[in-house]
Amino acid sequence: ANVAYLRTHLLSWYDLEKRELPWRTLALREPDVNIRTYAVWVSEIMLQQTQVATVMDYYIKWMKRWPTVSDLAAATLEEVNQMWAGLGYYSRGKRLHEGAKKVVSELGGQMPDTVDELLRQLPGVGRYTAAAIGSIALGQVTGAVDGNVIRVLCRMRAIGADCTSSAVTEALWALANTLVDRKRPGDFNQAMMELGARVCTPKRPLCEQCPVRSQCHSYRKVQAKLEQNSKRL
Ligand code: ADE
Repeated sequence: ANVAYLRTHLLSWYDLEKRELPWRTLALREPDVNIRTYAVWVSEIMLQQTQVATVMDYYIKWMKRWPTVSDLAAATLEEVNQMWAGLGYYSRGKRLHEGAKKVVSELGGQMPDTVDELLRQLPGVGRYTAAAIGSIALGQVTGAVDGNVIRVLCRMRAIGADCTSSAVTEALWALANTLVDRKRPGDFNQAMMELGARVCTPKRPLCEQCPVRSQCHSYRKVQAKLEQNSKRL
């Protein structure tokens, strides 16, 4: 019952409050799964170490210039680096380019179509990125745990320990896999990211705006403390 509550409330909040980011619009509207996968891959690599606000213009320009994986494969590394200038961490652009060339030369131009294959075939794509692309572009039912999601889940379960330790991270992946909405895994994962970025922020989280605070152990703890204190007065 709690899992169902979390899914519905998080998704309704996301439907109302989500930002119209270019890769979201694209992923929603693009009927061709190969282009969709490529489009989400590019967005996730750009977002790995760069803020959403900075990525937007770069992403739009990139997709105009290289709308498909074959277009990117046909570019030169110089062109890719030029386009990447200002985003930082240039190896990311290089890996996208390498990945595109590999997809064209070894996979017949078809993007990998499962989380496992994304992880196996694409350079620069780790566990989180593969899960993000798989859920958002392909509708695969998997959680996707990045730094924001670690914070959200750690608070929700009031895990006091170091939440970035590998044992905790492993447990959070298992939790995320249980929680993820079966029908809308990509939206669910993006809703978790959105919650972490805008409500469940590192400092001073905006709990009064949180659609799932009733399910949050940290929030309940704080509320219980407040209640105790007010009774004492
Ligand atoms: N960070 C990583 N992936 C993202 C996404 N799809 N939307 C917003 N922020 C993100």
